[in-house]
Amino acid sequence: MRKYYLLQVTYAILLSAVLSIFCAKKEEAGAPEAKSKARWIIGMSQCNLGEPWRVQMNADIKKAAEEHPEIEVVFKDAQNDNLRQRSHVEEFVSSGVNLIIISPKEAAPLTPPVSEAFRHGIPVIVLDRRVLGADYTCFIGADNKKIGEAVGRWIARRLGSQGKVVELKGLMTSTPGQDRHAGFVEGIRGSQLEVIFEADMKWLEPNARQEMESALARFDKINLVYAHNDPGAHGAWLAAKAAGREKEMIFVGIDGLPQEGQVYVRQGILEASFEYPTGGKEAIETALAILNGQTVPKELTLPSRVFTAANIEQGGELLSE
Ligand code: FRU
Repeated sequence: MRKYYLLQVTYAILLSAVLSIFCAKKEEAGAPEAKSKARWIIGMSQCNLGEPWRVQMNADIKKAAEEHPEIEVVFKDAQNDNLRQRSHVEEFVSSGVNLIIISPKEAAPLTPPVSEAFRHGIPVIVLDRRVLGADYTCFIGADNKKIGEAVGRWIARRLGSQGKVVELKGLMTSTPGQDRHAGFVEGIRGSQLEVIFEADMKWLEPNARQEMESALARFDKINLVYAHNDPGAHGAWLAAKAAGREKEMIFVGIDGLPQEGQVYVRQGILEASFEYPTGGKEAIETALAILNGQTVPKELTLPSRVFTAANIEQGGELLSE
C-alpha cells in the first residue's frame, strides 16, 4: 500500500515538473501561438532596461500598440548582452513573428541576426542604434551627428569659444556614441575649446562618475562636462559634487526625458539637455504601414530639441537644420 502511495506521489511530482517546464518554455518563447487574438505579432528586442530612456521607449511602444488590437508586441530585454540579444532575434525568427523591432546594443555583433531575419523575409525596424550594412527594412532615430554638432556649437557659444572641456562618451562601439562624438568635433571646429579629458563611460552613470573622479583628480580647472547622455552627465555632476567642485563647471547631456534630463535642467544640475526622442510611437506607426503592405522610407529621421533654463517652460527649442 505504502509502496503504491509512494509511486503515486513520485508520478505526480514528475508530471508537475514536466508540465511546469513545458509551460515555462512556452512563456519564454513568447510564441505567436500564445492564444493571441491579434492578427500580427511584433517581436521587440530591447538591448537593456537599466536606463530610464529605454524604459520610456518600451512604454511608448506599448502605448502606441494598445490603440491597435490587430497587433501584439512581445518584448524581450537583452540586459545589455549582445549574445542574449542575438538569440532573442533568432527566437523571434524561429517562432515566426510577423515583424521585428530592434534597438541593438552594438552594431557589429547584432548585424548578422538582423540580416538573417531580413533575408528570411521578416521586416525589421532598427530603432535608435544602427546595425552595419543595409539588411533591414527601416531605420528610425534622431540624427546623432547633428545633435553632437549642435552641442558643440552651443558649448562654443556658452564658453565664448574658450575653455577646458571633459567629454564622457557613450559606448563607442554603438553608433550614437560615434556620431555624438564626430558631430561635437565638427561643432567646436574653429573655436579655442580644449578637450582635456575623454573617456568611454559606455552610457552608464556609475562609469561616468568614476571617469569624472579621474578627471577631477588630474585637472584643477574644468569649465564644462559634455556627456553623451543625461545619466552620464548626472554621474559626472555627482563626482564633482562629492569633490565640492560642482559649481565650478557646467554640465551638458543628451536625452532630455521629462522625468530625467528636463528635471536636471529645472534643478540647475544641467545647463542644457538635448532631446533624443525614443521613436517608440513612430516604430509602431511604421510597423503598421509595413504590415498593411505599404512602402516605407529606409530612414526616418526624428527631430530634436534643446532644453535650457531659459526655454524649458516653453517646451524647449527645436534644433535648426
Ligand atoms: C540608453 C541610452 C540613452 C542614449 C541611447 C543611445 O541605453 O544610453 O541614454 O541616448 O541609449 O543609444
